[in-house]
Amino acid sequence: MTTPAEVFLRDYHDRNPAAASELAERGRVGGRTVYEAFADRVGPVRRLLDLGCGDGALLAVLAARGAEKLAGIDLSARQLDVARRRPGLKKADLRPGRAQELPFADGAFDAVVSHMALMLMADVKQVVAETARVLGPGGTFAIAVGGGGIDALEVFLKVARPLFAVVPPERRVPTSGDPRTRTREGLDELLAPAGFAPVEWHEAVVDLSGPLDRVWQTCQDTYYQMDALDETQLAGLQTAFKVATRPLLAPDGILPAGVRVNVAVTRLK
Ligand SMILES: C[S@@+](CC[C@H](N)C(=O)[O-])C[C@H]1O[C@@H](n2cnc3c(N)ncnc32)[C@H](O)[C@@H]1O
Repeated sequence: MTTPAEVFLRDYHDRNPAAASELAERGRVGGRTVYEAFADRVGPVRRLLDLGCGDGALLAVLAARGAEKLAGIDLSARQLDVARRRPGLKKADLRPGRAQELPFADGAFDAVVSHMALMLMADVKQVVAETARVLGPGGTFAIAVGGGGIDALEVFLKVARPLFAVVPPERRVPTSGDPRTRTREGLDELLAPAGFAPVEWHEAVVDLSGPLDRVWQTCQDTYYQMDALDETQLAGLQTAFKVATRPLLAPDGILPAGVRVNVAVTRLK
């Protein structure tokens, strides 16, 4: 059953089909893109599925590293249209749909990945059960989840939260993620009943520093709740953000900003 949060996500990403990968590609982890850094954790694989694959940016990186059979599923069909145009994804099996109901055969993949998407999903136990079903024995499940803002992005949330809280209920962005997906202990609790080993846990910081305007754009692209604000509220928030981050601004005009991203990797026992 499609949830209100899924309707929002499908609509948001249909309207902004390149937003997620443009945001991710702005960031650097030790000088590398977040997709490259995540792909290092996945390792070499032959048959791979991406849950919430967006516009295929991660799948393209994994295709370039030699994965032969690539598949992805996402709520947003417009993002999949972008993915199909990427070099390396011409033959990829890209399906519009829900990760809770995977249209793939039992044991079809050696690895399942999910980059900044599992944390948004409702009924995550069902997603985990479906993942275990489509993985072969010993299959890898690699998950990247957000771990909170740093510097200007932390300040942004402090300034924005009171505004998000007063958005009228009928305009509020619906959410449905399970908080257990954001912690090591929570993921182990969700994954163990489906037969997965305890996760390996890797913490990374994504550097999103830049000039004020660019960091403001990053804030707008990072938080779905921004979609509920009108022009006046956005302008007011931008001014408040500018004032609140002034003490952080370096003499060269660069505003430090980042997000923590946690990567969990496990195997089906
Ligand atoms: C923040 S974006 C990340 C996209 C992509 N993984 C990336 O890192 O570029 C989250 C994606 O998860 C997808 N998504 C959320 N819930 C989903 C679900 N239940 N089934 C399939 N896709 C889902 C959204 O449509 C969106 O494309």
